[in-house]
Amino acid sequence: MARLGLERTVVDTAVYERTVARFRETGVLLPTIGQLKDPSTIPAVIREKLASVDPDSPHPLNLFRVHWFNDAARSGLSDVPGYLELPSALTGVKARIVLALGNRFPMINAHKVLPAYGCLVPRLVTGQFDPVRHRAVWPSTGNYCRGGVAISRILGCHGTAVLPENMSRERFDWLDKWVLDPADIVRTPGSESNVKEIYDTCAALDRDPDNIIFNQFCEFGNYLIHRYCTGAALETVYQALKKSRPGARLAAFVSASGSGGTLAAGDHLKQKFGTRIVAVEAAECPTLLENGFGEHNIQGIGDKHVPFIHNVMNTDMVAAISDRYTDRLLVLFNTEVGRRYLVERQGLAVELVAALANMGLSSLCNMLAAIKTARYYDLGAEDIVLSVATDGAAMYGSQLDKTIKRDFAANFDAVAAGETWGMALAATTTDNLLEMSMVDRKRVFNLGYFTWVEQQGVSLPEFMARSSQSFWDGLEEMVPAWDRMIGEFNEKSGAAAAFAA
Ligand SMILES: Cc1ncc(COP(=O)(O)O)c(C=O)c1O
Repeated sequence: MARLGLERTVVDTAVYERTVARFRETGVLLPTIGQLKDPSTIPAVIREKLASVDPDSPHPLNLFRVHWFNDAARSGLSDVPGYLELPSALTGVKARIVLALGNRFPMINAHKVLPAYGCLVPRLVTGQFDPVRHRAVWPSTGNYCRGGVAISRILGCHGTAVLPENMSRERFDWLDKWVLDPADIVRTPGSESNVKEIYDTCAALDRDPDNIIFNQFCEFGNYLIHRYCTGAALETVYQALKKSRPGARLAAFVSASGSGGTLAAGDHLKQKFGTRIVAVEAAECPTLLENGFGEHNIQGIGDKHVPFIHNVMNTDMVAAISDRYTDRLLVLFNTEVGRRYLVERQGLAVELVAALANMGLSSLCNMLAAIKTARYYDLGAEDIVLSVATDGAAMYGSQLDKTIKRDFAANFDAVAAGETWGMALAATTTDNLLEMSMVDRKRVFNLGYFTWVEQQGVSLPEFMARSSQSFWDGLEEMVPAWDRMIGEFNEKSGAAAAFAA
């Protein structure tokens, strides 16, 4: 299982000792996963020092901000993760649709910095990544490779992003500022759903033993950090919502799937509250729904395969959303004309309309899928559908301009705003939905065989183990084991003593 990131003892002592020595020089302290789950446990001395650190700077202490509990200023802590509750006047359904805000994460303004840490830190403390010799390669369609570059850089490791050349300009602008060498941005052909091309590039890079590929689609660090940290964060949001309405029920957790990492939070919520898990993809690339394929623009999701870390047999529903709607809603929610329409015509509060900018393309996709879910299950006012806004609209300014030119003849006026509201939001129905029967779950699970066993060389027993829930539940034991190792590592590097109160 070494390549899947499931080691819990030191694999290579020489590498481990070199890594400790490197961290002794740099003085970087590693947070435990437990601290990221509950940042109130981060020692006061660190929290005080953090107050003067810019959340978007490449400062090692920003590791202690890689969690859901950053406040609106992104400098201090909040008791409850930031969230956006969408009223019925917007969604057209009675259920409360609530999205946790990913753009409060440091450095990349998106939640993918969390799984990047979740994948790298177990490798560091088990002697599988040598910061002196190795290069961390981060393949993704956007935010994960930015998260990986940010985490590598602040840990003093060499990081390289591999991503399709047609991802949003904002992502490349960010990468240009953060990589130390322009050669560390590797552009592959295509766009969002061209993951095969990313794999091919990574297979070539993998021939060099100094490159370590952090494949988010099969790294269990990605699954675990979301199950543990995102799961707990969403539970805190739910408890906060319940305070004002004690009868509230957590009816569903909805998440668009890229690597399937975020969906792991659903495993936690389902175990605790019986919450249904809804996996979402682009209607233009309906891999889970129809074993389909295709191009789309919901950046960050829907990559024409079933990720290895997606717990398919625990998935209750699959929903597909068209990028025609997410592209257009981005325009409606983030232009002056659109905002005026929402306030004056639809009567939405000015503050709410301003807050809609917290949703990037995949967040809008989550919102629409949550509405579909609420409609399908006839959810009422006591029901909560939780989801995440993985990043905000700020990452897609260039996409917005493209859509205005392409879909609105370069003139997004009040009529176009009304049409967009009608077609992309108010008309949301229960089409492109599948409540998963046992046969459906097996069909999707088995589809993964072709990617993972036939193409990527995972053994059949490793593949099949994932059909049982005890496998996924058992993974949780890894977290305390890794946290113990992180603690020992910090002791050995001397960083723990340096930060002692
Ligand atoms: C913007 C955006 N939304 C959604 C996702 C999907 O998250 P996950 O990979 O955890 O399934 C990603 C992943 O990169 C993303 O960047």
